[in-house]
Amino acid sequence: MPLDLAPDDHDAWRAVRAYWSLRPDTTYLNHGSFGPPPLAVRQARRQWQDQLDEQPMDFFIRRFEPAWHEARQALARFVGTRPENLVFVDNATVGMNIVADSFPLSAGDKVLMNDHEYGAVKRIWQRACDGAGASLVTVELPLPFRTAEETVDALLAAATERTRLIVVSHITSPTAVTLPVAEICRRARQRGIAVAIDGPHAVAQLPVNTDAIDCDFYTASCHKWLSAPFGTGYLYVAPRRQASIRPPVLSWGRVPPTPLTTWADEFVWSGTCDPSAWLAIPAAIEFLETTIGLTAFRTRSHWLAQYARRKLMTLGGQTPLVPDDAAWYTSMAHVPLPPANGAALSAQAREFPGDGTNDATQARALQAALWRELQIEVPIIEFRGERYVRVSCHLYNDTGQIDTLYAGLADLLRQGW
Ligand SMILES: Cc1ncc(COP(=O)(O)O)c(C=O)c1O
Repeated sequence: MPLDLAPDDHDAWRAVRAYWSLRPDTTYLNHGSFGPPPLAVRQARRQWQDQLDEQPMDFFIRRFEPAWHEARQALARFVGTRPENLVFVDNATVGMNIVADSFPLSAGDKVLMNDHEYGAVKRIWQRACDGAGASLVTVELPLPFRTAEETVDALLAAATERTRLIVVSHITSPTAVTLPVAEICRRARQRGIAVAIDGPHAVAQLPVNTDAIDCDFYTASCHKWLSAPFGTGYLYVAPRRQASIRPPVLSWGRVPPTPLTTWADEFVWSGTCDPSAWLAIPAAIEFLETTIGLTAFRTRSHWLAQYARRKLMTLGGQTPLVPDDAAWYTSMAHVPLPPANGAALSAQAREFPGDGTNDATQARALQAALWRELQIEVPIIEFRGERYVRVSCHLYNDTGQIDTLYAGLADLLRQGW
């Protein structure tokens, strides 16, 4: 039975923390980077691992493929598409590399991104463009975000008749903004432009209905908000694009001697590995859907993110990048911080010799200080010359931890950090 708890019933939510086993010395507010799996998921993974280690032949030859298909079916239902359109990969990075290695680009073509995209994804597409003689175009989206229409217009205004692909996050990493991806896809389709969505933060934070979004590619990591084991990701490819996909590793494709009949068959067997993390994805879905309840999860995590946003805004930074509205942010609060003052810059310069005064270093130094002095794990991010704190709120978090972060930040900022 899913939980029926008011989002501010703090005592009741505190009991939910027992579903995780987390290091007690840490205030962990960074589920968005690395989401620790709950105990039920760790146990499900261990059971698969035990089966593998205790009788590898039986596991690989007889049990593995049916379990792979069952896990894929559960994930496909969860993200709103048919299983035939999905394959498991280790993470979203692998998924995006597969898209970049498969997508047909020619000299003079353009790939369109925006300045909120994840750094590693920019590198993937820069290499793909360099290899093809194509160019990567990065648009600065208007800030603050006001309407979906304004955002989509700004992005699409940079598209030309040579734009072949738009690469866009569903929820951005440095700024935690939910982008209107379905509308971007709709407008791109009208102009014959493909769309690849980078979705690691969206799975579970948002109800993802992949078929309704109607993108060409969607890749995500399940080890973020879904809290599946680390090393779990997937790649969705629309039926119209499946024939173009090249597997990065060529092996048997399926457990031999099974013949290959679909694009996805190339991804079942890529050489011997430990697939227990993928096979535990259904346990992660069941945990969120049945033990907790998706509505309870989303309502509580957004309530906490809103609490964090309102509290941290009083530290004196500028206005946040998005309106206080669940259409723009869900389980992560993203709040501007005031700039460091001169006195602390010299201390930072000592800590990071030769690079003590630029904004990225100020952000890194403050993040390091929060951990060193207060054992708080939270990212401090530099974006367009400003520092922001990005607070992830999962079910093991509470207002007390956010208050601790607030007090710690207030203290460090007072000291000039
Ligand atoms: C928007 C975005 N894309 C891609 C990635 C890469 O995810 P992974 O390291 O799981 O491959 C991240 C990770 O934080 C991300 O936030």
